[in-house]
Amino acid sequence: MSDQITLLGLESSCDDTAAAVLRGVPGQRAEILSSVVAGQTELHAPFGGVVPEIAARAHAEKLDTCVEEALTEAALSLNDIDAIAVTAGPGLIGGVLSGVMCAKGLALGLGVPLIGVNHLAGHALTPRLTDGVDFPYLMLLVSGGHCQFLIAHGPEEFTRLGGTIDDAPGEAFDKTARLLGLPQPGGPSVEAEARTGDAKRFRFPRPLLDRDGCDMSFSGLKTAILRTRDQLVAEHGGLHVTDRADICAGFQAAVVDVLSEKTRRALGVYLQINPDSPTLAVAGGVAANGAIRAGLETVCADLDVAFTAPPLSLCTDNAAMIAYAGMERFATGGRDDMTLVARPRWPLDQSAPALLGGGRKGAKA
Ligand code: KG4
Ligand code: ZN
Repeated sequence: MSDQITLLGLESSCDDTAAAVLRGVPGQRAEILSSVVAGQTELHAPFGGVVPEIAARAHAEKLDTCVEEALTEAALSLNDIDAIAVTAGPGLIGGVLSGVMCAKGLALGLGVPLIGVNHLAGHALTPRLTDGVDFPYLMLLVSGGHCQFLIAHGPEEFTRLGGTIDDAPGEAFDKTARLLGLPQPGGPSVEAEARTGDAKRFRFPRPLLDRDGCDMSFSGLKTAILRTRDQLVAEHGGLHVTDRADICAGFQAAVVDVLSEKTRRALGVYLQINPDSPTLAVAGGVAANGAIRAGLETVCADLDVAFTAPPLSLCTDNAAMIAYAGMERFATGGRDDMTLVARPRWPLDQSAPALLGGGRKGAKA
């Protein structure tokens, strides 16, 4: 088909270096020809969090090999690429800069269009790539660095209904795991422990549930867990296996309650504006959590709202979502030139007030 294009996407805004090749007709469905992600978990592990300078250097080293791998996997060469899409923010500035410079070099060398993409738009548009979901829909982005409700009206048109004012939920899972001596990433290890725990033994706080609106807070939960752990250690000289499982179950239940109730409220607002064939889409690493997914599914079933969650490999940071967001921008004539800048902050909804929290992985919105 003549109006089909092949687009290379690059992602380097946090601790994953990624390249992907997509083919499709802009504005319609696209096929993922390849998607390569090189993580940096081991590089940052000794520091207990992402170190921006280490991340930037690793991106600069890995970007070209990721591009090469993505092309090989797609059985294509650089000459087959019709446009380059790149994350231009928000994120850790050194990493974003590495990606933008690489994309500029490729676009200039190949003489093809350059398209700067908002990383959050990449996540928020993923349900269109994976399930062909039509606009509008409500999106819950929930990961180690993001937590917000967005109404997606169009490829570059979003309304934020609320978000975390401090930590992201993934960050809370990771901190809880660290406090209990469980391996990172904390999400899967806390979820596994929680399976055998008694969620009712400890009643952890449900921050901001008593307040109207869709804003959330997770940092107080971590403090409550620290206190409970210290109290148990002081009383019994250590943590028993059951203590750990019960803390994990109690913590997870609190996160499920907060996310479910805030989703119910966000859907209430959304349904008033868009009552026809509503859909809730969820993305981000935390969407892998079975209890959270079940909580969200229950809310959607109660309100007669369709629920969709992309496969995990496309929920977490990747370049296929960036290439797809680039394709959506391409369809509406979106193009950048060599003046494209890397932006550490870049809210999807420019009219919404800034959220207070930045999260472990840097300021996002
Ligand atoms: O989307 P992601 O790969 O990266 C960003 O944060 O951008 O999300 C990673 C986060 C980590 O904090 C990890 O602990 C959390 O997602 N996560 C989970 C689960 N699997 C990963 N949280 C809860 N339950 C899980 N099963
Ligand atoms: Zn992300």
